[in-house]
Amino acid sequence: TRIYLKGAKGERPSLPVRLEALDRLARERLSPEAYWYVAGGAGEATMAANLAAFDDYRLVPRVLTDVSQRDLGRTLLGRRFSVPFLLAPVGVQEIVHPEAEVAVARGAKAAGVPMILSTVASRPLEEVAAALGDTPRWFQLYWPSDDALAASLMQRAEAAGYEAVVVTLDTKMMAWRERDLDNAYLPFLSGKGLANYTTDPVFCAALAAPPESELRATVRHWSNVFAAPGRTWTDLERLRQATELPILLKGVLHPDDARKAVEAGVEGLIVSNHGGRQVDGSIAALHALGPVAEAVAGRVAVVFDSGIRCGADVLKAIALGADAVLLGRPYVWGLACEGAEGVTDVALRLLADIDLSLALTGADALDRLDRTWLVSGRENS
Ligand code: FNR
Repeated sequence: TRIYLKGAKGERPSLPVRLEALDRLARERLSPEAYWYVAGGAGEATMAANLAAFDDYRLVPRVLTDVSQRDLGRTLLGRRFSVPFLLAPVGVQEIVHPEAEVAVARGAKAAGVPMILSTVASRPLEEVAAALGDTPRWFQLYWPSDDALAASLMQRAEAAGYEAVVVTLDTKMMAWRERDLDNAYLPFLSGKGLANYTTDPVFCAALAAPPESELRATVRHWSNVFAAPGRTWTDLERLRQATELPILLKGVLHPDDARKAVEAGVEGLIVSNHGGRQVDGSIAALHALGPVAEAVAGRVAVVFDSGIRCGADVLKAIALGADAVLLGRPYVWGLACEGAEGVTDVALRLLADIDLSLALTGADALDRLDRTWLVSGRENS
């Protein structure tokens, strides 16, 4: 409504509504290295498949249902969220905007949308928590090889009011990312995205002293502790012991892994292929969602990301069994173009699109959606 009212006065929105146009504007604002770090993947196939998969399902609207009041809320980890999406964890945001995650936090707060903060953020988790105020937040953990460091990061997150830990499991190592290789660009090597490490007592205590430069020592230690590729399901027990917070495993795509996650006693999982940034050629995330949700059968929370771009996408993911979804690249484009306000605009527009799509589909609450609202495959062509 705000946009149309401005239009009546001859004004157009400064931030384009169409995501292709927003993406193009972000590309003009960013260095090619930063733009491609965000836009690129481990190739193009899975990124394209993530988006195309939404077209394999179509909503079947119903008519003459009362949609005058609508509820966009979802229940997740025992609490009611007033919106069905959170901002996905995206690292090193200083390459996109000088205020980085603090701007995103302000934007999220203004929109009333919860945020997940990345381990490899450019601002310490405490500073981001302060900017979020009362807005719900989760902390994403790149599970370091050092147990004491993992415990320390999670303790800090708990003390700063983060309500859950998202453990990302699809990033045992960085993938073969050709755009970044051609640009010879890995932001961490110049010390970017390490704020949560350089403010951590356990990390700092373990740093090698001179003659190495401080930056070199930091980066070297970070690359040693970043991940533990030898880790298996049995290691989860130690993580479980180290925090009281609910744990969600991010990057689960196979129903057998979903069952193992339930058996391991975690509170949720996130069906995601990291936006096509890790295994090019892997299954479109949306195609993994139905089988995973079925395997979980409501026993733990199921969150979805990788390809959410519009309101109908959110409805489809929920109808396929997601309790909530994460918004990724689109809010980063908003950040690149207009900082905190850009993040707010992108989030509020998605909410408006979800609300309209829900009403026009004929449901008065996202909670009503299930598989019966969709057709798939040949039925929709
Ligand atoms: C990510 N993602 C990510 N995930 C995570 O667990 N920790 C992280 O630090 C990051 N960092 C990151 C940086 C950038 C630039 C991007 C684009 C993505 C993955 C993110 O949380 C999410 O899974 C994807 O963004 C979803 O794909 P779409 O919908 O953005 O295409």
